[in-house]
Amino acid sequence: MAVGVFDSGLGGLTVLDAVTKRLPEVPFVYFADSAHAPYGVRDADDVFDLTCTATQRLFDAGCDLVILACNTASAAALRRMQESWVPHDKRVLGVFVPLIEALTERHWGDNSPPREVAVQHVALFATPATVRSRAFQRELAFRAIGVDVEAQACGGLVDAIEEGDMILAEALVRSHVDALKRKMPDPEAAILGCTHYPLMEEIFQDALGPEVSVYSQASLVAESLADYLDRHPQMRGPGSEAGFLTTGNPKKVSDHATHFLRRKITFEGA
Ligand code: DGL
Repeated sequence: MAVGVFDSGLGGLTVLDAVTKRLPEVPFVYFADSAHAPYGVRDADDVFDLTCTATQRLFDAGCDLVILACNTASAAALRRMQESWVPHDKRVLGVFVPLIEALTERHWGDNSPPREVAVQHVALFATPATVRSRAFQRELAFRAIGVDVEAQACGGLVDAIEEGDMILAEALVRSHVDALKRKMPDPEAAILGCTHYPLMEEIFQDALGPEVSVYSQASLVAESLADYLDRHPQMRGPGSEAGFLTTGNPKKVSDHATHFLRRKITFEGA
């Protein structure tokens, strides 16, 4: 009954942590494509190829359902994967839609026409590839009208987090928030549209100010996954072992992961 969770690196651990707490009986297999991170500076073909390779490895580990806990892959590759690559007995889901449903006050499967929602000025912080894809704005436009989105591509932030350089990561968060505020001085809500960024959530909140609601994906994705597995129990795959796989250096990735999640995490080579 294993379920796969994929990210380019450590960011998806924020999602893994939440889904593990919400569904403690499910063994999750986590895949970090650390050798190829960051994805956010790659083109869409490259992200597609890398994401398919990683997802196949999770299918091979006994997962029939894989969560792309990576906004860059969800934005740049998911639709193409679903249309042309995912075998008929497997499923791949992204992390965008649960977030947008929360922002637009919708429940799963509510396909009613777009309508006005409470927030009107939304700041989006994401990787350069996610910002370039405009996937967030597209998904939002299906559900809401009159929402002004200002996107800030946070170059360098994923690399700093992957390297564990938290001083640089904090400086980058503050300068990206400043840059965003020059374009949109008073956002009502901020979306952390990269799964690495919740590791810096306190700094984002501090730099944005207490009046801005900061949305991050982990708990929203966990609720959606629980709901999905209730409705599709057959998508719990045949695997029975939880585990952590990486294309990077297992010792280095394990050390950084242990530091972030504050519990012992041991990665093996993928
Ligand atoms: N954590 C990923 C995301 O949510 C990918 C970041 C990257 O590799 O650039 O976008």
